[in-house]
Amino acid sequence: MNDTLKTIYERRAVRKYQSQPVDSTLIEQIIDAGRMAPTAMNRQEWKFYVLTDQKMIEALSPGIVKIAGKFLHWAHGSDRSNSGDIIFHGAPVVIFITGPANSEWAAMDIGMCSQNIMLAAKSLGLDTCPIGLVKFLAKTEKFESLHIPGSEKIYIAIALGYGAEKPKVHERKRDNLRLITHFETHAL
Ligand SMILES: Cc1cc2nc3c(=O)[nH]c(=O)nc-3n(C[C@H](O)[C@H](O)[C@H](O)COP(=O)(O)O)c2cc1C
Repeated sequence: MNDTLKTIYERRAVRKYQSQPVDSTLIEQIIDAGRMAPTAMNRQEWKFYVLTDQKMIEALSPGIVKIAGKFLHWAHGSDRSNSGDIIFHGAPVVIFITGPANSEWAAMDIGMCSQNIMLAAKSLGLDTCPIGLVKFLAKTEKFESLHIPGSEKIYIAIALGYGAEKPKVHERKRDNLRLITHFETHAL
């Protein structure tokens, strides 16, 4: 297996982190890998907000927990709450990725960007977890502290740090591949 494939297969959603900070040059390198993702019509309409203050990260969680409510039932399951903070999992860095609120392609672009970020992080010895629950952040009191303009929407956040757990691989469904061998034609 080559290094790229190895990184793809080794990436896991990690929900427990060491307190060790992440060097800013590494963070920049990881975000730059995100920027190399493809975007529809090469628009590159994303912004990255990086939070490295552990106290600030943790302070964002209670508001999300309050609003997310019923979506959090899974957070108390076996592999979902390995640290005290069930939203950001105790990560020392969180990268919020925003884009235009009413964009047809932003979610797709930012999805690809996020995967680049997570794979780049893994290749550098770091771990990540994508945090979709940040979609509730804009409705919380603490949102203002991030200084994200109202025209932007947070599509995802990536928790980043040195992992303190090695989660098992979730077995992948493999009955989802169809080979198209010929086109059927229908008479009008
Ligand atoms: C769009 C998206 C949103 C996610 N949101 C969360 C989240 O809010 N909290 C969390 O702990 N994990 C979240 N995850 C991680 C998934 O639960 C995880 O990727 C999945 O269980 C597969 O595990 P693996 O990444 O280790 O292969 C999210 C993943 C994706 C792709």
